[in-house]
Amino acid sequence: PNLEKEFLPMYFGWFLNRKTSENLRKIGQAFLDELGSSKAFKKESKHFAPAIEDPKLKIDLTSYFVKRPPSVLHCTTKYTDFGKAPGAEEYAQQEAVKAAYGKAFTLTISALFITTKTAGARVDLTDQDLLLWPNDVDKIQPTDNLPKGSRAHVTLGCASGIEAVQTGIDLLEFVKLEKAGNKGLETVQELLPHGPCPLNG
Ligand code: 2AM
Repeated sequence: PNLEKEFLPMYFGWFLNRKTSENLRKIGQAFLDELGSSKAFKKESKHFAPAIEDPKLKIDLTSYFVKRPPSVLHCTTKYTDFGKAPGAEEYAQQEAVKAAYGKAFTLTISALFITTKTAGARVDLTDQDLLLWPNDVDKIQPTDNLPKGSRAHVTLGCASGIEAVQTGIDLLEFVKLEKAGNKGLETVQELLPHGPCPLNG
């Protein structure tokens, strides 16, 4: 009866198929290239490349986010830490979770974002997807009250010394900024490198 407890995985999530994973990596790289050579971003370059003095030089963000996911990209639903994480058992035992093993889902990417720590893709979850979303992951502080699924993301890269868990925290910070009314291009530009950038924008 305790078998399930002992054999919980490190984490549950949606895994992109190989083709989509490769595409998203490419899109992410193109985004970093474009951002690294954009004028608006130059002002913030000191946060990413303190050594670069020449303002004409392009900031190599692909090298900056040096830690990249080794295998196919994924969107973590619940980090269970082999059963040791809080809420791991409760999550794994849900019927909706068990019923979803091996099923295919369509995820929607709504934005790419970077901070000085992480680069990621924001994921918009459908009501169907949200059935698999844990109740306890969309907050940084215990008092945070953000919409379910706020944390959903795909990690594209982390700066040296940063763990992947940071990407979700960074996204939650963005959602909190949005909630506080930080919308629109001007605000986003002022916030760079902390501002989200729309995928099609
Ligand atoms: P990620 O979902 O932001 O990419 C294995 O380490 C996966 O679990 C990674 O994809 C990682 O981040 C996620 N992860 C690691 N530690 C975590 C934690 N404490 N909380 C939530 N997710 C975590």
